[in-house]
Amino acid sequence: MDHPLPDRPARRAARARPLLAPALALALLGAGCTGGVHGTPGAAGLRDPYFPGLGNGGYDVTHYGLTLDVDPAADRLRGTARITARATQDLSAFHLDLFGLDVERATVEGRPAAVNRAGKELTLRPAAEVEERLREGRTFTAVVRYAGSPRTVTDAEGEEEGWLRTADGAVALGEPTGSMAWFPGNHHPSDKAAYDVEITVPEGLTAVSNGELVSRRTVDGRAVHRWRTAEPMASHLATVAVGRFRTRQSVTADGIRLFTAVDPASAVASEEVLDRIPAVLAWSAKKFGPYPFRSAGAVVERKGDSSYALETQNRPVFPGPPGIRLLVHELAHQWFGNSVTPAAWRDVWLNEGFATYAEWLWAADHEGAPVEESFAAAYADDRNWAFPPAGPPAAVDLFDPPVYGRGAMVVHRVRLAVDDDRAFFALVRGWTKAHRHGNASTGDFTAYVEEKTGRDLTELWDAWLYGTSRPPAD
Ligand code: TRP
Ligand code: ZN
Repeated sequence: MDHPLPDRPARRAARARPLLAPALALALLGAGCTGGVHGTPGAAGLRDPYFPGLGNGGYDVTHYGLTLDVDPAADRLRGTARITARATQDLSAFHLDLFGLDVERATVEGRPAAVNRAGKELTLRPAAEVEERLREGRTFTAVVRYAGSPRTVTDAEGEEEGWLRTADGAVALGEPTGSMAWFPGNHHPSDKAAYDVEITVPEGLTAVSNGELVSRRTVDGRAVHRWRTAEPMASHLATVAVGRFRTRQSVTADGIRLFTAVDPASAVASEEVLDRIPAVLAWSAKKFGPYPFRSAGAVVERKGDSSYALETQNRPVFPGPPGIRLLVHELAHQWFGNSVTPAAWRDVWLNEGFATYAEWLWAADHEGAPVEESFAAAYADDRNWAFPPAGPPAAVDLFDPPVYGRGAMVVHRVRLAVDDDRAFFALVRGWTKAHRHGNASTGDFTAYVEEKTGRDLTELWDAWLYGTSRPPAD
Protein backbone atom coordinates (compact mmCIF):
# COMPACT_ATOMS: atom_id res chain seq x y z
CA MET A 1 0.00 0.00 0.00
CA ASP A 2 1.02 3.48 -0.75
CA HIS A 3 0.77 6.35 1.77
CA PRO A 4 2.09 9.35 -0.05
CA LEU A 5 0.20 12.06 1.82
CA PRO A 6 1.53 11.67 5.37
CA ASP A 7 5.07 11.76 4.12
CA ARG A 8 4.83 14.95 2.18
CA PRO A 9 4.52 17.59 4.87
CA ALA A 10 7.41 16.08 6.76
CA ARG A 11 9.66 16.13 3.76
CA ARG A 12 8.65 19.66 3.00
CA ALA A 13 9.46 20.71 6.57
CA ALA A 14 12.80 18.97 6.41
CA ARG A 15 13.69 20.83 3.26
CA ALA A 16 12.51 24.11 4.66
CA ARG A 17 14.45 23.89 7.95
CA PRO A 18 17.92 24.80 6.62
CA LEU A 19 16.52 27.98 5.16
CA LEU A 20 14.89 29.03 8.43
CA ALA A 21 17.66 27.93 10.74
CA PRO A 22 19.91 31.02 10.77
CA ALA A 23 17.03 33.36 11.57
CA LEU A 24 15.67 31.00 14.21
CA ALA A 25 19.05 30.61 15.87
CA LEU A 26 19.49 34.37 16.04
CA ALA A 27 16.05 34.80 17.57
CA LEU A 28 16.81 32.15 20.21
CA LEU A 29 20.17 33.71 21.04
CA GLY A 30 18.42 36.99 21.53
CA ALA A 31 16.07 35.32 24.02
CA GLY A 32 18.99 33.87 25.92
CA CYS A 33 18.41 30.33 24.71
CA THR A 34 21.18 28.37 23.05
CA GLY A 35 21.99 24.78 22.23
CA GLY A 36 18.35 23.91 21.63
CA VAL A 37 17.44 24.11 25.36
CA HIS A 38 14.43 26.32 25.90
CA GLY A 39 14.46 26.84 29.65
CA THR A 40 12.83 29.78 31.34
CA PRO A 41 13.87 31.61 34.54
CA GLY A 42 12.49 30.27 37.82
CA ALA A 43 10.15 32.62 39.70
CA ALA A 44 11.62 35.12 42.19
CA GLY A 45 9.06 34.23 44.86
CA LEU A 46 6.45 31.65 45.83
CA ARG A 47 3.65 34.18 46.21
CA ASP A 48 3.20 33.55 49.90
CA PRO A 49 0.61 36.28 50.62
CA TYR A 50 2.56 37.45 53.69
CA PHE A 51 5.97 37.48 52.01
CA PRO A 52 5.50 37.37 48.21
CA GLY A 53 9.25 37.39 47.51
CA LEU A 54 10.11 34.60 49.92
CA GLY A 55 11.28 31.35 48.39
CA ASN A 56 11.80 30.79 44.69
CA GLY A 57 10.17 28.85 41.89
CA GLY A 58 11.49 26.24 39.48
CA TYR A 59 13.43 23.97 41.81
CA ASP A 60 13.34 22.06 45.06
CA VAL A 61 16.39 21.93 47.31
CA THR A 62 17.26 18.46 48.58
CA HIS A 63 20.48 19.29 50.43
CA TYR A 64 22.42 22.28 51.76
CA GLY A 65 26.11 21.85 52.42
CA LEU A 66 27.18 24.97 54.31
CA THR A 67 30.82 25.62 55.15
CA LEU A 68 31.03 28.62 57.43
CA ASP A 69 33.92 30.47 58.97
CA VAL A 70 32.73 32.68 61.79
CA ASP A 71 34.89 35.23 63.54
CA PRO A 72 32.72 37.03 66.12
CA ALA A 73 35.50 39.44 67.16
CA ALA A 74 35.88 40.68 63.59
CA ASP A 75 32.11 40.38 63.02
CA ARG A 76 32.82 38.38 59.86
CA LEU A 77 31.19 35.43 58.23
CA ARG A 78 32.70 33.66 55.25
CA GLY A 79 30.63 30.92 53.70
CA THR A 80 30.30 28.44 50.92
CA ALA A 81 26.82 27.12 50.22
CA ARG A 82 26.70 23.97 48.16
CA ILE A 83 23.07 23.58 47.14
CA THR A 84 21.73 20.39 45.59
CA ALA A 85 18.34 20.86 43.96
CA ARG A 86 15.92 19.21 41.57
CA ALA A 87 14.58 21.32 38.73
CA THR A 88 10.77 21.45 38.60
CA GLN A 89 10.82 23.16 35.19
CA ASP A 90 13.38 23.59 32.42
CA LEU A 91 15.48 26.37 33.94
CA SER A 92 17.50 29.01 32.14
CA ALA A 93 18.18 30.81 35.44
CA PHE A 94 16.98 30.62 39.04
CA HIS A 95 16.79 32.70 42.19
CA LEU A 96 18.08 32.28 45.72
CA ASP A 97 17.15 34.47 48.69
CA LEU A 98 20.11 36.21 50.33
CA PHE A 99 20.13 39.32 52.51
CA GLY A 100 23.28 41.40 52.95
CA LEU A 101 26.60 39.55 52.47
CA ASP A 102 28.64 39.80 49.28
CA VAL A 103 28.70 37.03 46.70
CA GLU A 104 32.24 36.40 45.56
CA ARG A 105 31.65 33.66 43.06
CA ALA A 106 29.01 31.15 42.01
CA THR A 107 29.05 28.02 39.93
CA VAL A 108 26.27 25.81 38.63
CA GLU A 109 27.21 22.26 37.73
CA GLY A 110 30.85 23.20 38.19
CA ARG A 111 30.86 26.08 35.68
CA PRO A 112 30.98 29.76 36.59
CA ALA A 113 27.46 31.20 36.61
CA ALA A 114 26.40 34.77 35.90
CA VAL A 115 25.42 36.42 39.19
CA ASN A 116 22.90 39.19 39.68
CA ARG A 117 21.85 40.81 42.95
CA ALA A 118 18.68 42.86 43.39
CA GLY A 119 17.67 43.40 47.00
CA LYS A 120 17.14 40.01 48.63
CA GLU A 121 17.12 38.20 45.30
CA LEU A 122 20.27 36.50 44.04
CA THR A 123 19.93 35.23 40.47
CA LEU A 124 22.24 32.62 38.98
CA ARG A 125 22.34 32.04 35.25
CA PRO A 126 24.21 28.83 34.47
CA ALA A 127 26.73 28.65 31.66
CA ALA A 128 25.13 27.66 28.34
CA GLU A 129 26.99 24.35 28.18
CA VAL A 130 25.40 23.08 31.40
CA GLU A 131 21.89 24.45 30.89
CA GLU A 132 20.56 21.07 29.76
CA ARG A 133 21.45 19.74 33.20
CA LEU A 134 18.75 22.01 34.63
CA ARG A 135 15.93 20.42 32.69
CA GLU A 136 12.79 19.51 34.59
CA GLY A 137 13.32 16.54 36.88
CA ARG A 138 17.12 16.70 36.88
CA THR A 139 19.25 17.26 39.95
CA PHE A 140 21.89 19.96 39.81
CA THR A 141 24.37 21.60 42.14
CA ALA A 142 25.03 25.28 42.72
CA VAL A 143 27.92 26.57 44.78
CA VAL A 144 27.91 30.12 46.13
CA ARG A 145 30.86 31.68 47.91
CA TYR A 146 29.99 34.68 50.01
CA ALA A 147 31.30 36.80 52.85
CA GLY A 148 30.63 39.88 54.91
CA SER A 149 29.24 41.14 58.14
CA PRO A 150 25.92 39.30 58.48
CA ARG A 151 22.84 41.41 59.08
CA THR A 152 20.27 41.41 61.81
CA VAL A 153 16.76 41.51 60.35
CA THR A 154 13.98 43.37 62.10
CA ASP A 155 10.88 41.37 61.24
CA ALA A 156 7.33 42.65 60.76
CA GLU A 157 6.68 42.28 64.49
CA GLY A 158 9.62 44.49 65.33
CA GLU A 159 11.51 41.46 66.67
CA GLU A 160 15.14 40.89 65.75
CA GLU A 161 16.06 37.80 63.78
CA GLY A 162 18.67 36.79 61.24
CA TRP A 163 22.18 37.06 62.65
CA LEU A 164 22.27 38.27 66.26
CA ARG A 165 25.42 39.22 68.15
CA THR A 166 25.47 37.70 71.62
CA ALA A 167 27.60 38.54 74.65
CA ASP A 168 30.28 36.05 73.55
CA GLY A 169 29.51 35.21 69.93
CA ALA A 170 26.48 35.07 67.66
CA VAL A 171 23.26 33.17 67.10
CA ALA A 172 21.16 32.77 63.95
CA LEU A 173 17.37 32.81 64.31
CA GLY A 174 15.28 32.38 61.19
CA GLU A 175 11.56 32.65 61.84
CA PRO A 176 10.00 33.83 59.65
CA THR A 177 12.58 35.40 57.27
CA GLY A 178 15.95 35.54 59.06
CA SER A 179 17.84 32.62 57.53
CA MET A 180 18.59 34.54 54.33
CA ALA A 181 20.92 36.67 56.48
CA TRP A 182 23.43 33.81 56.80
CA PHE A 183 23.03 31.54 53.78
CA PRO A 184 21.55 31.74 50.29
CA GLY A 185 18.65 29.35 49.76
CA ASN A 186 15.04 28.69 49.00
CA HIS A 187 13.80 30.36 52.15
CA HIS A 188 10.19 29.27 52.36
CA PRO A 189 8.87 26.59 54.75
CA SER A 190 7.50 24.56 51.84
CA ASP A 191 10.99 23.57 50.64
CA LYS A 192 12.53 21.31 53.28
CA ALA A 193 15.97 19.78 52.85
CA ALA A 194 18.77 17.86 54.58
CA TYR A 195 21.77 19.84 55.85
CA ASP A 196 25.46 19.41 56.49
CA VAL A 197 26.88 22.42 58.29
CA GLU A 198 30.58 22.85 58.98
CA ILE A 199 31.50 25.80 61.18
CA THR A 200 35.00 26.97 61.94
CA VAL A 201 35.44 29.33 64.90
CA PRO A 202 38.37 30.62 66.96
CA GLU A 203 39.62 28.06 69.46
CA GLY A 204 37.87 28.34 72.82
CA LEU A 205 34.51 28.96 71.19
CA THR A 206 31.95 26.28 70.38
CA ALA A 207 29.71 26.26 67.30
CA VAL A 208 26.37 24.51 67.68
CA SER A 209 23.88 23.75 64.94
CA ASN A 210 20.97 21.41 64.25
CA GLY A 211 21.11 17.64 64.08
CA GLU A 212 24.07 15.56 65.19
CA LEU A 213 27.64 16.59 65.92
CA VAL A 214 29.64 14.50 63.44
CA SER A 215 33.09 15.71 64.41
CA ARG A 216 34.98 18.39 66.22
CA ARG A 217 38.66 18.95 65.67
CA THR A 218 41.26 21.67 65.85
CA VAL A 219 42.94 22.81 62.63
CA ASP A 220 45.62 25.52 62.75
CA GLY A 221 44.34 26.80 66.06
CA ARG A 222 40.71 26.96 64.92
CA ALA A 223 37.87 24.71 66.03
CA VAL A 224 36.04 22.94 63.20
CA HIS A 225 32.58 21.55 63.99
CA ARG A 226 30.58 19.39 61.61
CA TRP A 227 26.84 19.03 62.13
CA ARG A 228 24.44 16.86 60.13
CA THR A 229 20.67 17.08 59.82
CA ALA A 230 19.44 14.03 57.92
CA GLU A 231 15.73 14.60 58.42
CA PRO A 232 14.15 17.30 56.25
CA MET A 233 14.32 20.77 57.78
CA ALA A 234 12.64 24.04 56.82
CA SER A 235 15.28 26.75 56.46
CA HIS A 236 13.74 29.02 59.13
CA LEU A 237 14.53 26.27 61.66
CA ALA A 238 18.23 26.13 60.82
CA THR A 239 20.54 27.69 63.37
CA VAL A 240 24.13 28.31 64.28
CA ALA A 241 25.09 29.41 67.79
CA VAL A 242 28.66 30.45 68.51
CA GLY A 243 29.85 31.13 72.04
CA ARG A 244 31.62 29.89 75.14
CA PHE A 245 29.12 27.15 75.82
CA ARG A 246 29.13 24.42 78.39
CA THR A 247 28.10 21.38 76.44
CA ARG A 248 26.67 18.04 77.47
CA GLN A 249 25.87 14.91 75.51
CA SER A 250 23.83 11.88 76.47
CA VAL A 251 21.31 9.41 75.08
CA THR A 252 17.74 8.98 76.34
CA ALA A 253 16.17 5.61 77.17
CA ASP A 254 14.42 5.85 73.78
CA GLY A 255 17.76 6.23 72.00
CA ILE A 256 17.44 9.96 71.25
CA ARG A 257 20.81 11.70 71.28
CA LEU A 258 20.85 14.80 73.48
CA PHE A 259 23.16 17.75 73.06
CA THR A 260 22.78 20.84 75.21
CA ALA A 261 24.87 24.00 75.00
CA VAL A 262 24.52 26.54 77.78
CA ASP A 263 26.03 29.95 78.28
CA PRO A 264 27.99 29.79 81.57
CA ALA A 265 25.99 32.74 82.91
CA SER A 266 22.81 30.66 82.50
CA ALA A 267 24.29 27.30 83.55
CA VAL A 268 23.23 26.99 87.19
CA ALA A 269 19.71 28.28 86.60
CA SER A 270 19.22 25.97 83.56
CA GLU A 271 20.39 22.72 85.03
CA GLU A 272 17.16 21.57 86.64
CA VAL A 273 14.90 22.36 83.69
CA LEU A 274 17.26 20.90 81.08
CA ASP A 275 17.49 17.68 83.12
CA ARG A 276 13.78 17.29 82.40
CA ILE A 277 14.19 17.16 78.58
CA PRO A 278 14.07 13.31 78.46
CA ALA A 279 10.91 13.28 80.60
CA VAL A 280 9.25 16.00 78.52
CA LEU A 281 10.11 14.14 75.30
CA ALA A 282 8.73 10.86 76.67
CA TRP A 283 5.53 12.58 77.88
CA SER A 284 5.16 14.36 74.50
CA ALA A 285 5.70 11.13 72.56
CA LYS A 286 2.77 9.53 74.43
CA LYS A 287 0.52 12.38 73.38
CA PHE A 288 1.82 13.27 69.91
CA GLY A 289 3.49 10.11 68.60
CA PRO A 290 7.15 9.05 68.33
CA TYR A 291 9.71 11.87 68.55
CA PRO A 292 10.38 12.67 64.88
CA PHE A 293 14.16 13.20 64.98
CA ARG A 294 17.20 11.24 66.07
CA SER A 295 18.54 14.01 68.28
CA ALA A 296 17.27 16.68 70.63
CA GLY A 297 18.56 19.21 73.12
CA ALA A 298 18.71 22.94 73.69
CA VAL A 299 20.85 26.03 73.29
CA VAL A 300 20.58 28.40 76.25
CA GLU A 301 21.96 31.87 75.67
CA ARG A 302 22.37 34.67 78.15
CA LYS A 303 19.38 36.80 79.12
CA GLY A 304 19.11 39.62 76.59
CA ASP A 305 20.94 37.77 73.79
CA SER A 306 17.55 37.46 72.07
CA SER A 307 14.07 38.53 73.11
CA TYR A 308 12.28 35.24 72.40
CA ALA A 309 12.81 31.51 72.20
CA LEU A 310 12.72 29.67 68.88
CA GLU A 311 12.01 26.02 68.10
CA THR A 312 15.14 25.58 65.91
CA GLN A 313 15.12 21.95 64.77
CA ASN A 314 16.32 19.37 67.29
CA ARG A 315 17.67 22.05 69.55
CA PRO A 316 15.52 25.08 70.44
CA VAL A 317 17.28 28.31 71.34
CA PHE A 318 16.33 30.00 74.63
CA PRO A 319 17.29 33.52 75.65
CA GLY A 320 18.27 32.53 79.18
CA PRO A 321 17.09 29.68 81.42
CA PRO A 322 13.63 28.59 80.25
CA GLY A 323 10.70 27.81 82.49
CA ILE A 324 9.23 24.34 82.14
CA ARG A 325 6.25 25.53 80.12
CA LEU A 326 8.46 27.27 77.56
CA LEU A 327 10.55 24.10 77.31
CA VAL A 328 7.36 22.05 76.76
CA HIS A 329 6.22 24.58 74.11
CA GLU A 330 9.47 24.52 72.10
CA LEU A 331 9.81 20.73 72.33
CA ALA A 332 6.18 20.33 71.15
CA HIS A 333 7.18 22.34 68.07
CA GLN A 334 9.50 19.48 67.09
CA TRP A 335 6.29 17.63 66.15
CA PHE A 336 4.16 20.67 65.27
CA GLY A 337 6.08 22.99 62.99
CA ASN A 338 9.35 21.13 62.52
CA SER A 339 8.29 17.64 61.48
CA VAL A 340 4.83 18.72 60.28
CA THR A 341 5.68 22.10 58.74
CA PRO A 342 3.17 24.71 57.55
CA ALA A 343 2.66 24.72 53.79
CA ALA A 344 2.68 28.54 53.94
CA TRP A 345 2.97 31.19 56.64
CA ARG A 346 -0.81 31.50 56.83
CA ASP A 347 -0.85 28.02 58.40
CA VAL A 348 1.42 28.94 61.30
CA TRP A 349 -1.44 28.48 63.80
CA LEU A 350 -0.89 24.73 63.22
CA ASN A 351 2.47 25.31 64.96
CA GLU A 352 1.53 27.74 67.68
CA GLY A 353 -1.96 26.41 68.40
CA PHE A 354 -0.65 22.90 69.02
CA ALA A 355 2.43 24.09 70.95
CA THR A 356 0.16 26.17 73.19
CA TYR A 357 -2.20 23.22 73.59
CA ALA A 358 0.82 21.15 74.64
CA GLU A 359 1.35 23.67 77.46
CA TRP A 360 -2.27 23.23 78.52
CA LEU A 361 -1.89 19.45 78.49
CA TRP A 362 1.30 19.74 80.53
CA ALA A 363 -0.41 22.00 83.08
CA ALA A 364 -3.25 19.49 83.34
CA ASP A 365 -0.94 16.52 83.88
CA HIS A 366 1.65 18.21 86.11
CA GLU A 367 0.25 21.37 87.63
CA GLY A 368 -3.28 20.40 88.57
CA ALA A 369 -4.76 22.92 86.13
CA PRO A 370 -7.43 21.17 84.03
CA VAL A 371 -7.42 21.96 80.30
CA GLU A 372 -10.87 23.51 80.73
CA GLU A 373 -9.27 26.13 82.97
CA SER A 374 -6.63 27.03 80.37
CA PHE A 375 -9.34 27.14 77.72
CA ALA A 376 -11.54 29.41 79.85
CA ALA A 377 -8.63 31.78 80.50
CA ALA A 378 -7.81 31.98 76.79
CA TYR A 379 -11.48 32.39 75.92
CA ALA A 380 -11.82 35.29 78.35
CA ASP A 381 -8.74 37.08 77.01
CA ASP A 382 -9.83 39.75 74.52
CA ARG A 383 -6.42 39.71 72.83
CA ASN A 384 -7.18 36.23 71.47
CA TRP A 385 -10.15 37.53 69.48
CA ALA A 386 -8.47 40.18 67.33
CA PHE A 387 -8.69 37.96 64.21
CA PRO A 388 -9.28 34.31 63.26
CA PRO A 389 -6.23 32.04 63.65
CA ALA A 390 -6.51 30.76 60.07
CA GLY A 391 -6.30 34.30 58.69
CA PRO A 392 -3.86 36.73 60.30
CA PRO A 393 -4.52 40.07 58.54
CA ALA A 394 -0.84 40.77 57.79
CA ALA A 395 2.72 39.58 58.42
CA VAL A 396 2.86 41.72 61.56
CA ASP A 397 0.10 39.53 63.07
CA LEU A 398 1.59 36.09 62.36
CA PHE A 399 2.77 35.57 65.95
CA ASP A 400 -0.03 37.41 67.75
CA PRO A 401 -2.22 35.96 70.53
CA PRO A 402 -5.02 34.60 68.27
CA VAL A 403 -2.50 32.34 66.50
CA TYR A 404 -1.44 30.89 69.87
CA GLY A 405 -4.42 31.10 72.22
CA ARG A 406 -7.27 30.83 69.76
CA GLY A 407 -5.26 28.23 67.81
CA ALA A 408 -5.15 26.12 70.98
CA MET A 409 -8.89 26.69 71.43
CA VAL A 410 -9.47 25.20 67.96
CA VAL A 411 -7.56 22.08 69.00
CA HIS A 412 -9.61 21.82 72.18
CA ARG A 413 -12.90 22.23 70.30
CA VAL A 414 -11.83 19.32 68.08
CA ARG A 415 -11.26 17.31 71.26
CA LEU A 416 -14.74 18.20 72.50
CA ALA A 417 -16.23 17.28 69.13
CA VAL A 418 -14.48 13.89 69.19
CA ASP A 419 -15.75 13.49 72.77
CA ASP A 420 -13.39 10.60 73.55
CA ASP A 421 -9.86 11.24 74.78
CA ARG A 422 -8.43 8.01 73.41
CA ALA A 423 -9.88 8.78 69.98
CA PHE A 424 -8.71 12.41 70.19
CA PHE A 425 -5.09 11.54 70.96
CA ALA A 426 -5.15 8.81 68.30
CA LEU A 427 -6.29 11.53 65.91
CA VAL A 428 -3.40 13.81 66.96
CA ARG A 429 -0.85 10.98 66.59
CA GLY A 430 -2.35 10.12 63.22
CA TRP A 431 -1.92 13.75 62.13
CA THR A 432 1.78 13.88 63.02
CA LYS A 433 2.27 10.51 61.34
CA ALA A 434 0.42 11.45 58.14
CA HIS A 435 2.60 14.54 57.55
CA ARG A 436 5.82 13.45 59.27
CA HIS A 437 8.78 15.29 57.68
CA GLY A 438 6.38 17.04 55.31
CA ASN A 439 4.18 20.11 54.98
CA ALA A 440 0.53 20.62 55.77
CA SER A 441 -2.02 23.39 55.32
CA THR A 442 -5.09 24.39 57.32
CA GLY A 443 -7.22 22.72 54.64
CA ASP A 444 -5.23 19.50 55.07
CA PHE A 445 -5.97 19.63 58.79
CA THR A 446 -9.72 20.17 58.55
CA ALA A 447 -10.01 17.54 55.80
CA TYR A 448 -7.98 15.08 57.90
CA VAL A 449 -10.14 15.59 61.00
CA GLU A 450 -13.36 15.24 59.02
CA GLU A 451 -12.13 12.12 57.28
CA LYS A 452 -10.99 10.43 60.50
CA THR A 453 -14.08 11.34 62.47
CA GLY A 454 -16.44 10.80 59.57
CA ARG A 455 -18.15 14.05 60.46
CA ASP A 456 -18.95 17.33 58.81
CA LEU A 457 -17.40 19.90 61.16
CA THR A 458 -18.13 22.99 59.04
CA GLU A 459 -19.75 24.73 61.99
CA LEU A 460 -16.73 24.15 64.22
CA TRP A 461 -14.32 25.54 61.62
CA ASP A 462 -16.56 28.50 60.82
CA ALA A 463 -16.96 29.45 64.46
CA TRP A 464 -13.49 28.78 65.90
CA LEU A 465 -11.03 28.75 62.99
CA TYR A 466 -12.41 31.24 60.48
CA GLY A 467 -15.01 33.35 62.28
CA THR A 468 -14.29 36.97 63.15
CA SER A 469 -16.32 37.12 66.38
CA ARG A 470 -16.14 35.22 69.67
CA PRO A 471 -18.50 32.23 69.44
CA PRO A 472 -20.55 31.15 72.48
CA ALA A 473 -18.41 28.86 74.67
CA ASP A 474 -21.00 26.06 74.60
N1 TRP B 1 7.78 30.65 67.06
C1 TRP B 1 8.38 31.12 68.29
C2 TRP B 1 7.70 30.40 69.41
O1 TRP B 1 6.55 30.57 69.61
C3 TRP B 1 8.31 32.60 68.51
C4 TRP B 1 8.65 33.53 67.38
C5 TRP B 1 9.43 33.31 66.32
C6 TRP B 1 8.24 34.86 67.26
N2 TRP B 1 9.52 34.41 65.53
C7 TRP B 1 8.80 35.38 66.10
C8 TRP B 1 7.44 35.68 68.03
C9 TRP B 1 8.59 36.68 65.69
C10 TRP B 1 7.21 36.97 67.63
C11 TRP B 1 7.79 37.47 66.47
O2 TRP B 1 8.29 29.59 70.05
ZN1 ZN C 1 5.78 28.66 69.43
